[in-house]
Amino acid sequence: MILVTGATGKVGGQVVSQLLERGTAFRALTRDPGAARLPVGVEAVAGDLADPQSLDAALDGVDAVFLVWPFLTAEAAPAVVDRIARQARQIVYLSMAGVRQRTDGPVDPITGFHGELERLIERSGLARTFLRPVGFASNTLGWAEQVRADGVVRDLNGSLARPLIHERDIAAAAVRVVTDGPDGGHAGAGYVLTGPALVTQIEQARAIGEAIGRPVRFEEMAVEEKRQQMLSWLPPSGVDAVLAAWAGMAGAAEPVTGTVEELTGSAPRTFRQWAADHAADFR
Ligand SMILES: NC(=O)c1ccc[n+]([C@@H]2O[C@H](COP(=O)([O-])OP(=O)(O)OC[C@H]3O[C@@H](n4cnc5c(N)ncnc54)[C@H](OP(=O)(O)O)[C@@H]3O)[C@@H](O)[C@H]2O)c1
Repeated sequence: MILVTGATGKVGGQVVSQLLERGTAFRALTRDPGAARLPVGVEAVAGDLADPQSLDAALDGVDAVFLVWPFLTAEAAPAVVDRIARQARQIVYLSMAGVRQRTDGPVDPITGFHGELERLIERSGLARTFLRPVGFASNTLGWAEQVRADGVVRDLNGSLARPLIHERDIAAAAVRVVTDGPDGGHAGAGYVLTGPALVTQIEQARAIGEAIGRPVRFEEMAVEEKRQQMLSWLPPSGVDAVLAAWAGMAGAAEPVTGTVEELTGSAPRTFRQWAADHAADFR
């Protein structure tokens, strides 16, 4: 029995669909099973990762957990990992690319909490696999309102190229690892997952335009304006650290890996495919 957390989210939602398709036994965790729009036939279980005790029923009889951490701090993580380790043998954690490398200098809160989670899981004794994807293609959904309004995407650094990854490919890797089980050869691994190629933000905007059948243009935004935008969801130190990380990426592109294909047998989807799959969100 597998417990899928983040089951109503982008990656977990795909894990749910793909496990369902395979006929694998699993449960889907959500804070509100009544409101969760899960596919027919999925067993939804209530639980809140901020309240570790609330997870006990969901964890009962579970062998493996796909863990998505939805917070910006690791505060509740020791108790959550401890409860998982008491019940399950295997954990597949949705971490992030670069988590190990950024140990010196300012660490943004996101890299910080993923690092903390990895360290806790490492110490838990569970057969653990860390999935370390690069930026999600779905981050560009943040442009949807602007695309719908006037077909102009305003953001920082149009020439920044990243190998953004489709949530389906992250999920396919997770499903492979979790269904191979704790003795399937993935214990101790940290898989860096990327899309198939570097795509600049200008090209991403253009691909969205092609998917919706009308032109979408990228327009440069000033750093200060971006900083103000980000302050609505990150503390100032976090904003500075994220901006510094992006500046670093502009100077040295992230490597493209073949790991998705090695794990799943299929090449990762292109950004163009992602845009086609999500065209409705931008119309
Ligand atoms: N975006 C990127 O570029 C990127 C890159 C690398 C790693 N990541 C990591 O990916 C993770 C996010 O994955 P995602 O985008 O698939 O998630 P998402 O679409 O934002 O969905 C969040 C999920 O978390 C669940 N959730 C929220 N609060 C919860 C709580 N208190 N207790 C239990 N469940 C809770 C929600 O379920 P309910 O509302 O149904 O409870 C929902 O299923 C983050 O850890 C992020 O750092 C992101």
